[in-house]
Amino acid sequence: MKIIMTASEMTPFVKTGGLADVLGSLPYALSERGHDLSIFIPFYRCVEGPMLELVYKGYVTVGSRRCHFEVIRISAEKNVHVYAIRKEEYFDRSFLYNLPHRDYDDNAERFIFFNKAVVHSISQLGLKPDIVHAHDWQTGLISIYLALDPHLGPSARRPSIFSIHNVAYQGIFEPNEFRMANLPDHLFSPHGIEFYGKLNFLKGGILFANHVTTVRPTYAEEIQTADYGFGLDGVIRSRRSHLKGILNGIDSEIWDPAKDKHLPEKFSHRTLKKKSVCKHALAAELKLDIAENQPLFSMVTRFAQQKGIDLFFQALPEMIKRGASFAVLGNGDVTYENQFRQMAAKFPSRMAVRIGYDDSLAHRIYGGSDFLMMPSLYEPCGLSQLYALRYGTIPVVRATGGLNDTIEEWNPKTHEGNGFKFSHPRFTSLLEAFDQAMRCYKQLKAISALR
Ligand code: ADP
Ligand code: GLC
Repeated sequence: MKIIMTASEMTPFVKTGGLADVLGSLPYALSERGHDLSIFIPFYRCVEGPMLELVYKGYVTVGSRRCHFEVIRISAEKNVHVYAIRKEEYFDRSFLYNLPHRDYDDNAERFIFFNKAVVHSISQLGLKPDIVHAHDWQTGLISIYLALDPHLGPSARRPSIFSIHNVAYQGIFEPNEFRMANLPDHLFSPHGIEFYGKLNFLKGGILFANHVTTVRPTYAEEIQTADYGFGLDGVIRSRRSHLKGILNGIDSEIWDPAKDKHLPEKFSHRTLKKKSVCKHALAAELKLDIAENQPLFSMVTRFAQQKGIDLFFQALPEMIKRGASFAVLGNGDVTYENQFRQMAAKFPSRMAVRIGYDDSLAHRIYGGSDFLMMPSLYEPCGLSQLYALRYGTIPVVRATGGLNDTIEEWNPKTHEGNGFKFSHPRFTSLLEAFDQAMRCYKQLKAISALR
């Protein structure tokens, strides 16, 4: 089949979270099964490619503006062609979606443009897809434009899939932005992309794609409930017969401690002793004082409320008192960034914090730490805990969403399970799971078996 995917992020070109990892791996897995893949992403400032080949130049109309753009092929490996939509005015910026303190004012316009430009390019490049698969709110209008494009013909209406990676991020904008979309007025209604008087991109994807998927079978159920639907549960229930949850996978080639070029020493489950080389190199890099048998905990995360960072801060002084050291890599919410800086200043030799996005350091942290903490308040799927498992780094997680589904509590008697978890979103519960992890760490046989 000819499959087109489109999203706002794709590793290794541009990434803020797990969405990028899915786009950087799923197309290659599909191509190995004989499919032809074309991917469309925005040409952000950070995007670089092995090739930069101009394949199309044209324009789309956004509101009353004629928006000229270019389509650049940035990679064509293993039957996966990656196209980036270049429009500097919209995408050549320091950050993807926001400045440190607020979202960009023109996000609706930027992504209306992107959706239109992708659909226009599909027809102009003559790609004739069997399936167009869009991901997350930034591409929520794709199926609507596909149905309306005069050049694509009626068959284009059949094959669209929309994947929800996190229903909390919906792309909600003021109603006056709707005019930028140049869509018929009747679509700004409860049966269309209007949502409590505003414009809602995600709703467009859910209602107008032929099929909707999400990142885990149980997430497909959860998002139909008021607790996890973030207001869209009713809309999602109306599509339940076309909704399916499929568990995310990881790219086990890129995330492989036996081949990982970012690690100072490669290791596998057979040579786990070498993991300690990675640990001590990481401690030296981050200027942490770690005694021979002291555990290193880590976090690699977006700094967002979703990730349970408040719980973590509440428990942190006690965890340090009880003997743990921490390596944290993340960025996002400026308040959290500052709180992390303060904590690092308070416990200089026990807590290292790196603010920013750093893929290579992320690999070294998964490779070098003993435990990965993910106290998320909710988690559609979560990939970080899966990477940690692959590196013999034991997840300590809150039992929610994908973390609950993928992490099974370690049983010291039967040696079953793969991590530690707690249920209540209270720091005392987090501390209980932490204590279990510490107890296990002190027993060489147990921790080796668990790894
Ligand atoms: P989410 O998509 O909600 O952020 P996931 O666990 O699905 O959560 O995916 C997060 C991905 O982003 C992982 O690959 C993780 O290693 C990576 N990541 C998060 N923050 C950073 C960062 N600051 N630097 C490098 N990688 C990061
Ligand atoms: C979202 C979710 C995360 C999921 C990722 C990839 O960002 O927050 O749980 O793993 O998408 O699907």
